[in-house]
Amino acid sequence: MKITVIGTGYVGLIAGLGFAKWGNEVVCLDITEEKIKLLQQGICPIYEPGATSHLHDGLESGRLRFTTDTKQAVQHGEVIFIAVGTPEAQDGSADLKYVYSAANDIANYMEDDKVVVDKSTVPVGTARALQAHIRRLLDVNGKQNLNIDVASNPEFLREGKAVGDFHNPDRIVLGVSSQRAQEKLLAIYSVFIRANKSIIVTTPETAEMIKYASNAFLATKITFINEIANLCEAVGADVQQVAAAMGKDGRISPKFLHAGPGYGGSCFPKDTKALADTGMKYGAHQTLVEQVIRANKEQKKRAADKVLTRFPQGATLAVLGLAFKPETDDIRESPALDIVTTLLEAGRFILRLYDPKAIKNAQSLLGIDCPNIIWCTSTTDAIEGTDAILLPTEWPEFSSLDFKKLGGRVHGKILYDFRNIYQKAQVEQAGFEYYGTGIG
Ligand SMILES: NC(=O)c1ccc[n+]([C@@H]2O[C@H](COP(=O)([O-])OP(=O)(O)OC[C@H]3O[C@@H](n4cnc5c(N)ncnc54)[C@H](O)[C@@H]3O)[C@@H](O)[C@H]2O)c1
Repeated sequence: MKITVIGTGYVGLIAGLGFAKWGNEVVCLDITEEKIKLLQQGICPIYEPGATSHLHDGLESGRLRFTTDTKQAVQHGEVIFIAVGTPEAQDGSADLKYVYSAANDIANYMEDDKVVVDKSTVPVGTARALQAHIRRLLDVNGKQNLNIDVASNPEFLREGKAVGDFHNPDRIVLGVSSQRAQEKLLAIYSVFIRANKSIIVTTPETAEMIKYASNAFLATKITFINEIANLCEAVGADVQQVAAAMGKDGRISPKFLHAGPGYGGSCFPKDTKALADTGMKYGAHQTLVEQVIRANKEQKKRAADKVLTRFPQGATLAVLGLAFKPETDDIRESPALDIVTTLLEAGRFILRLYDPKAIKNAQSLLGIDCPNIIWCTSTTDAIEGTDAILLPTEWPEFSSLDFKKLGGRVHGKILYDFRNIYQKAQVEQAGFEYYGTGIG
C-alpha cells in the first residue's frame, strides 16, 4: 500500500520504518530540513536502539523515502498518518497547531480519496473535528468529489524500546467511522492479525480516550508509589521492598512501581494535563489526575530539595543522566533537568553533567556556555573532585559504579540515588552517605 507519514519524530519515524519493513511504499514528510537530509543519508536524527538498521533496510529496499516536499508526500499516500507533536499549550490543553497544519496540507494538495489516520495523541473528538475541517476546506476549494475519512490509531510505543514495541505491541487500537478506513487499517496491520495480536476496533472517540486513560493510569501508578516512598522515608521503611511485595499481587503487577524523582518525558506530563483539561471542558473533572499532576511537581521539587538542604553553602556536584529515562536522547520534561535547573537557580552549585546520549539536547536547552555547568564526557570525568554524585537517570552504565574506587576521585562521599539502583548498605560500606527515594 502507498503510505505517507507526516512527522518523522520518535513516533512517525519508527512507524514509517515499520510500514516499509512490512512491504508498503512509504514516504515520510517532515518540515525540519536537517532531519530529512540526515534520514536521506541513512543517519538517524534521534537515538533509538535498532532504528538505524531498519532505516538502512528501508532505504536499500527502495520502499522508503524522506522528503520535505509536502505536495509530493500528500499525493503519494492513499493512507496518510499524522504523527506530529501535540505539545502542551499554555493553559495545559493539547496544542493542536501542528495537527491542523498537517490537515490543511492534506486538504490543499490531495487529488484523490484519502484515509487520514491520527497517530498523534489528541483529545477526544479531534478525529471527527479534523474530518469536518478537511471536508470544509475541500468543499471550499471545489473538491466536493473527493472522499476523506479520518481515523484514530493511537501509538503506545516507549522511547528507548520503540522499535521492539512497534513490532510487538500489546494491542493495536483502531478508531474508525467508516468501512473504508477500517479495511485499509486492517490491511496495514494484517501482520498483527496473523500473529494473533489484540486488535481493538472501536469509534474514534473511544480510541482517543484509550490513549489518555492508559497514560494517566501509568502516571498515577508512578505517583502512588512515589507518595508511598515519601512516607517510607519518614517512617523508616523501604519502598523497594514494599513495591516488590505489592507487585507479587497479580492484580497490582510490579510494573511502574518504581519510586523516583517524578515522571517526565514527552507524554505523561502533557497527556495528564490534557486529560484534566478535557475533563474540565466536559464537566467531568478528573480530580485524581489533577492531584497526580500536582503531586508529581512536588516530587521533582522534593528531589532537588534534598540536595539544597544538605548543601546550604553550595557544592560541586556530578549529575549522571540527563535524559528523561535511559536508552533515549529525549530530555523533554526530564526530572533530571528539573533538578539541574533548580540547583542552577539556587546559584551556589557547580554542576558537572554527563549523559551517554542526551548531552547535545541538554546543551541546546541549557546553553553550551551556561555558567556553573561543566559538560563532561564520561562518568569518571563527571565525578572528578565533586562533593556529591547525583543519579537521576538509571542508564545501565551507571549501575555498576565501584564506590571503593570512586572514593579516591571524589571530594565528598555522598550519593543521591534517586532511582534506587544501589543497595543502601553496599554504598555505605564503601564509606558513602546514601540518599535514595523512599529508603528510610
Ligand atoms: N514519543 C513517544 O514516546 C510517544 C509515544 C506515543 C505517542 N506519542 C505521541 O505521538 C506524537 C508525536 O510525538 P513524537 O515524540 O514523535 O514528536 P516529535 O516532536 O519527536 O516529532 C514530531 C515531528 O513532526 C514534525 N512536524 C511538525 N509539524 C509538521 C508538519 N506540518 N508537517 C510535517 N512534519 C511536521 C516535526 O518537525 C517533528 O520532527 C505526539 O502526539 C505524542 O504525544 C509519542
